[in-house]
Amino acid sequence: MADSGAARRQSLHGQWSSRLGFILAVSGSAVGLGNIWRFPYVAGENGGGAFVLVYLLCVFGVGLPIMMSEILMGRRGRRNPVATMRLLGEEEAGHAQWQWVGGMGVCGGFLILSFYSVIAGWAVAYIFEGGSGVFRNADAAVVNGVFASLTTSPLISGAWHTAFMAGTIFVVARGVERGLESAVRVLMPALIGLMLVLLGYSMMAGSFAEGVTFLFEPRFDELTPAAMLEALGQAFFTLSVGMGAIMAYGAYLPEEASITSTAVAVVIADTAIAMLSALVIFPIVFANGLDPASGPGLVFQSLPLAFGQMPGGEIIAVIFFLLLTFAAWTSAISLMEPAVAWFMETLEFGRVQAAVTVGGIIWGLGLLSVLSFGPWSQFRFGNGTIFDNIEYLANNVILPLGGLAIVIFAGWIMARISTADEIDPKCGRAYKLWRVGARFVAPVAVVLVLLNALGLF
Ligand code: TRP
Repeated sequence: MADSGAARRQSLHGQWSSRLGFILAVSGSAVGLGNIWRFPYVAGENGGGAFVLVYLLCVFGVGLPIMMSEILMGRRGRRNPVATMRLLGEEEAGHAQWQWVGGMGVCGGFLILSFYSVIAGWAVAYIFEGGSGVFRNADAAVVNGVFASLTTSPLISGAWHTAFMAGTIFVVARGVERGLESAVRVLMPALIGLMLVLLGYSMMAGSFAEGVTFLFEPRFDELTPAAMLEALGQAFFTLSVGMGAIMAYGAYLPEEASITSTAVAVVIADTAIAMLSALVIFPIVFANGLDPASGPGLVFQSLPLAFGQMPGGEIIAVIFFLLLTFAAWTSAISLMEPAVAWFMETLEFGRVQAAVTVGGIIWGLGLLSVLSFGPWSQFRFGNGTIFDNIEYLANNVILPLGGLAIVIFAGWIMARISTADEIDPKCGRAYKLWRVGARFVAPVAVVLVLLNALGLF
């Protein structure tokens, strides 16, 4: 029987305690800086409405089928993404070359976490800035000054980056199952609760109608091919798909858990938080005459204005940036896990040694991003600073190509019986929908967006 080997295969590093544990771990990976920091600023840079529409189409039409593919492949292979793709490639296609897709993903994880940790370091720094009272009744000039003095100083920004990486290495070295589930279980609802409070503030004190119009009224003339690629890249980034992070987590998923309902729940929660974040930020941006297209500083330059005007704003700011730090932390862990699992399984490193090695390399790479917000900010090529180029390469090239390969493998290379065995042996409606998504919708959409961005039609 084609599925007997897979059914008996055991994960090499333990399992999630339950389906809920897995949902929490995957949502912990998905919800992070991508929702709260990146979505608003990229939407702002790309003109709002039409970008948001394409983004939503990409999340549900492309991201969801890929997430399901990653989970099913991960659970079937039960190894790190490189070894899983090699094993499944041998089983389903008769050769090992699919391992290179896993390898590209592992490299993508290094790149993404290198800049992710720098931004997360800013969030850590803002826990202290927020509590210090500097934002009390501050105007945009004061808030911008705080942001600039943090980000342009390689020493300060580098120190927070170091602290964040150290925290990430610490958790990964202990093993991802331990602590992660309970952390997400408490912190995710807290984050959503606080975002709702902030939404209340934005509705009362911000230019709420203007924010809503900006986000949801499509102006299709602003929808350039480059903006569509940004929307696709953001969809991959926010769902953590395209590099094998979800595949690595799927390897620890118990046999009986439903892949479909897990993925749907995570995608909906992730999208809700991104929308919430944008609905909080843009009314503040417009009410204060800020530029929605100001780039990666947007969250750090808009929210403090609101905190400065609220009663108890210091406490709210501290809690907000604390929760943002935790959200980034649970994502960072998932960015490291594929590489760490690879070092353990292939080079036979211990978990601690693997975490320290991988984390150390990523930390070093991150210094490039640190410098590119400071002394090297004038050094520009390709898409801008070094940070801009690393981000572009990872999000707009590696993730879409990786996701495309994953979904083609799951949809076209794997036998129907193998994928059905994981998703639904009875091949019900959810399975059929997934298969249409994986075989047609997702690959066609990714190819069209990529060709379009290359100017090929
Ligand atoms: N999705 C996370 C966020 O929105 C970032 C992230 C975690 C990620 N793991 C990933 C992005 C894997 C791409 C691939 O903050």
